[in-house]
Amino acid sequence: MVLDALIKIKNKINPFLTIRRSYREGICGSCAMNIDSCNGLTCLTKISSNYELTITPLPHMFVIKDMVVDMTNFYNQYKSIEPCLKRKTPAPLLERRYRK
Ligand code: FES
Repeated sequence: MVLDALIKIKNKINPFLTIRRSYREGICGSCAMNIDSCNGLTCLTKISSNYELTITPLPHMFVIKDMVVDMTNFYNQYKSIEPCLKRKTPAPLLERRYRK
């Protein structure tokens, strides 16, 4: 995976390379970068042998350092849309439990 290559570069070649990652399971989005002009998760993107990759920070975001971008605007937008479903009335099962 691309993330493994970046970790190897950080550990063996350039300890000052700054990357963001978390559990490496393709869920959190921490490792998102631009890989060959396509935004993606480095922990899920495979590298084929004898292949040259161009990896850059996510476009249209402020770069804090190397591959790490400022996520402040993203989290503010995320908070403003409240991305979850909300019931207008309590769930029927909960209503029955509370009536006893
Ligand atoms: S480390 Fe979380 S999605 Fe890649």
